[in-house]
Formats: sequence, C-alpha cells, structure tokens
Amino acid sequence: MRIYRAKDEQDLARKAANIMSAQIIMKPDCVLGLATGASPVGLYNQLVEWYRKGDLDFSCVRTVNLDEYKGMAPDSPQSYHMFMWEHLFSRVNIRPERVFLPDGLAPDSNTECLRYNAVITGLGGIDMQLLGIGVNGHIGFNEPGEEFAKEVHCVKLTESTKQANQKYFPDGRMPDYAYTMGIKSIMQAKRILLIAKGEKKAKALAASLQGPITPEIPASILQLHNDLTVVADDDALSLMR
Ligand code: PGA
Repeated sequence: MRIYRAKDEQDLARKAANIMSAQIIMKPDCVLGLATGASPVGLYNQLVEWYRKGDLDFSCVRTVNLDEYKGMAPDSPQSYHMFMWEHLFSRVNIRPERVFLPDGLAPDSNTECLRYNAVITGLGGIDMQLLGIGVNGHIGFNEPGEEFAKEVHCVKLTESTKQANQKYFPDGRMPDYAYTMGIKSIMQAKRILLIAKGEKKAKALAASLQGPITPEIPASILQLHNDLTVVADDDALSLMR
C-alpha cells in the first residue's frame, strides 16, 4: 500500500489525476473503473484540463462505473450516468460506446447484475479502479456487513449512506436500492486508487487501512490488495497511527 498525503484539495486532485493519467498513457486502451460523488470531481476536472492541453487521449479508453441507483433513469439529474457525462465523458474524447454503467431502469435486477458482471469480464477486467470511501467505510455501495465474495449485486442503502447523499435529493426522494460492483469485483482490479478528503472520512480511513479486516468496514479488505494507492488530505489522514 502506498499513501500519498495531499496538502490541499487541488493537490489531491492533481496527485490522483497524475496516477490515473499515467495509467492511460501506459495503456491507452485501459479499462478504468470510475466512481461518482464529491471526492473525484477535482480529479476529473484535472484530467479534462490535461486533455484540453493535448496531454491526454481518451479515444481508446474504456470505463466501467462502480454503481448506479436502481430505478433511476440515465437522463435523470441525480443519476450516476448524468454525473459521469457532466463531469468527464462529455468533456473529453471518450467514445460513448466504450463507457458502461449499471442500467438503473433494467426490468429485472438479477438479470441486470449478471449483464453488468459480463460487461466487466468481457472488457478483460479493470486495470485501475478509482474509489471514494463512505463515512461508514463503504466502497461503491458495499455497505457494512456485506459478504466480501460478491460481484455485481443490488443493495438496500443504509441510513448512513442515505443521509450522506441526501444533499443530492432536495425533494427527499432518494432511491432505497442501488446496483453496485461487489467487493470481489473491486478486488479483482489490477490497481486500486482510493481518494479521501476531509475530517469526516478520518475514522473510516484509519479503520480501513490500519484496523482489522472485517465486513463491518468494507474498505478494510483493501489491505489485502497488492496494488493499492491512497491519496488523502491531512484531515482524512488525521487519525492514522
Ligand atoms: P463522496 O462519497 O465522494 O461524496 O464523499 C464517497 C462514497 O460515499 O463512496
């Protein structure tokens, strides 16, 4: 495990973007596992800036996202589809047919989980998986207590996650379920890049990186990954021993 300390938000974005852009440069048709939420916004902005300067090319890159709300239309403003198009896909030269997310509107959730698993396998697996971390230690929507062995599956969101994401749903109508890559899908990525900022992530980060490996802290399994890079700011690292 490598941990890089970022001195501020911009430094965190730049360090993480450097790591991801190195992946794209070394393997132009790499498969990136991508994440949504507040954590990766700066990183995506930095990648867009380097793309505009001519330093990065996404024309062969393939992407699979970690998760999507069940029941959410792709063109809904709160969907993770929309998030990805707004923050990254529409701003770089990525090919629309090479980006993949779970289909929130799929009529049958079991079939959708199998389909999305097959998408990941069909791409040959993930070269680099980007992760944020939840205040409860979740990664993707793998909530505390979930089995480590799962691949793509449908989860009931916990109250803690719903509270953390409530700000995105001013009408209060946040979905109860989501599709997510499982821990097994995440752990099969060749490289993992975890980013965390702010004091509210400090407890989860310290427990995940230095505490016992337990399903109660889903991110703790990352200690067993052989190519984990963490980029975090001082506040997020403040409870590390
Ligand atoms: P955040 O969420 O980036 O919005 O803090 C991370 C997560 O819950 O996985």
